[in-house]
Amino acid sequence: MSFTLWFTGLSGAGKTTLSSLVYRELCLRGVRVELLDGDAVRRNISNRLTFSREDRNLNVRRLGYIAHLLNRNGVAAVVAAIAPYAESRAANRALLAPYIEAFCNCSLETTEARDPKGLYARARRGEIQHFTGVSDPYETPEAPELDLPTGTESVRACVDRVLEHLAGRGLLPATRVLAPGEFERRESDRAARLAELGYLASGPVAR
Ligand code: ADX
Repeated sequence: MSFTLWFTGLSGAGKTTLSSLVYRELCLRGVRVELLDGDAVRRNISNRLTFSREDRNLNVRRLGYIAHLLNRNGVAAVVAAIAPYAESRAANRALLAPYIEAFCNCSLETTEARDPKGLYARARRGEIQHFTGVSDPYETPEAPELDLPTGTESVRACVDRVLEHLAGRGLLPATRVLAPGEFERRESDRAARLAELGYLASGPVAR
């Protein structure tokens, strides 16, 4: 059965890391699944959109629509995007079933200290406007299916929580079917092909 697993949370909260590891686990188990990473989708599909409330809602609803197209064809969608506003998350919850919201629950203090892309520093200097957590709100999910303590627990522990949740709902086959190295080989072939054709890098998994 297909589903959408949506990692939401602040920039630097662990969405890309967790989503790519969960995506890998699903692929290894033979699940038909696609990974939609906010950064990659913004580069390749939503490249004209800004970070205004209207454009973010549009971006999040586009991602929801793509997930819907995948789901109705039996393909699971793993999404990693901030999705800061309750309204567009609610729209996706209404569209997608099952919709599993995984809140990467990490304090601003921690994401700002991590600042993997240096964006918080730039936002504090006023070089980036409407930066989530700094100059734009993140509306905390009220009833996420998964509340992941990504600031205090290890990546492995958080991935395990997600896999347990999926397994508990019958969405995770028990055994791995891909041979060791096969996933990495397929992903790097795909990334090379996309790069050759002029598509931009689409996240750590595909690099
Ligand atoms: S969303 O709000 O529309 O869901 P999305 O997840 O696609 O956001 O994109 C967020 C990414 O865009 C961040 O990881 C960061 O690299 C980049 N970014 C650029 N400007 C901003 C901003 N003002 N607020 C948040 N992220 C930004």
